[in-house]
Amino acid sequence: MRRRRLGATEFEITPIGLGCMQFAGPGLVEGFYPAIGQETVTAIVGAALAGGVNWFDTAEMYGKGASERALTTGLRAHGVKPGEVMIATKWTPTLRTAASIGHTVGDRLAALQGFPIDLHQIHQPVGSLSGIPRQVEAMARLCREGRITAVGVSNFSARQMRTAAVVLAAHGLTLASNQVQISLLHRDVERDGTLRTARELGVTLIAYSPLRSGLLTGKFHENPELVRKLPRVRRLMGGFSPAGLKRTAPLVAELNAIGKAYGVSAGQVALAWLTGFYGDTVVAIPGASKPRHVEESAAVLDLELTERELDRLAGLSPARS
Ligand SMILES: NC(=O)c1ccc[n+]([C@@H]2O[C@H](COP(=O)([O-])OP(=O)(O)OC[C@H]3O[C@@H](n4cnc5c(N)ncnc54)[C@H](OP(=O)(O)O)[C@@H]3O)[C@@H](O)[C@H]2O)c1
Repeated sequence: MRRRRLGATEFEITPIGLGCMQFAGPGLVEGFYPAIGQETVTAIVGAALAGGVNWFDTAEMYGKGASERALTTGLRAHGVKPGEVMIATKWTPTLRTAASIGHTVGDRLAALQGFPIDLHQIHQPVGSLSGIPRQVEAMARLCREGRITAVGVSNFSARQMRTAAVVLAAHGLTLASNQVQISLLHRDVERDGTLRTARELGVTLIAYSPLRSGLLTGKFHENPELVRKLPRVRRLMGGFSPAGLKRTAPLVAELNAIGKAYGVSAGQVALAWLTGFYGDTVVAIPGASKPRHVEESAAVLDLELTERELDRLAGLSPARS
């Protein structure tokens, strides 16, 4: 699959990157994903590189630097040098003013252990003590100072994206990306104007939870017992209840059927739908807690579904999961 340009930047990224929330270690993220050791992280990063993945998404919020450190430790262990892959991280806005973007960028760079911040993102539009324009101004300043290369946002609405783009334009910059939840079980971007606005502004949408936290792999439909073993917060997310599994069973059956024809898994078909259905505007960052997960995700770079398959899956995607 052809690489895709990240917004209007110079970065040419693979349509599949690696989400690194799973590398957060002990703390809040354990409500979603149990902590995994460095050895496993290094193996996951190695599998991503071997599969041709050329970019990684992490965040301050993922263990206050733990994910950034684990990722770059893994990259170094595989001989990757700064600049050879693209790194995206995020600033946490909660109860902080925009000034903290400048104050904390040194911590981010320290946690990245010599790797640059190719894309710095505002993790969410809510929670900061400053308005969005001020936050974006602070990001623009970091660009001007050469401390980051590109500016992105996350969980922003269409209107908030426009605000960010206008502020950046005054500095001769563009908004590179908006990281939002998109999958066959979460298609709000089509209805709330985010997709249309991203296309109009030339902004890349980075799809998070593209497997809807593993639901679209079909493993929970096949073995509902697995739901009981999930960390509490993730278990209580939409879709893992018996009714939720029942609602999405027809879609998962079709993912399995299409997968069988290609010799791939349901999860791989779900990712190929994401990278195919929306064209160049959307790239995806599936997470992995095992090397096998990312081996499968990376193999999607060689998988293209037909228009009919894309439409058939879209037709089976329930209004809510
Ligand atoms: N910006 C934001 O607000 C935001 C929010 C959420 C996530 N994110 C980013 O998006 C990334 C991905 O989202 P996500 O982790 O929430 O959801 P996801 O990518 O939809 O699901 C990842 C989980 O699915 C399971 N999985 C993946 N590949 C598999 C395979 N081949 N076979 C079986 N199971 C497989 C694993 O679950 P198990 O580990 O249980 O086996 C894995 O941890 C995160 O790492 C993070 O970087 C961003």
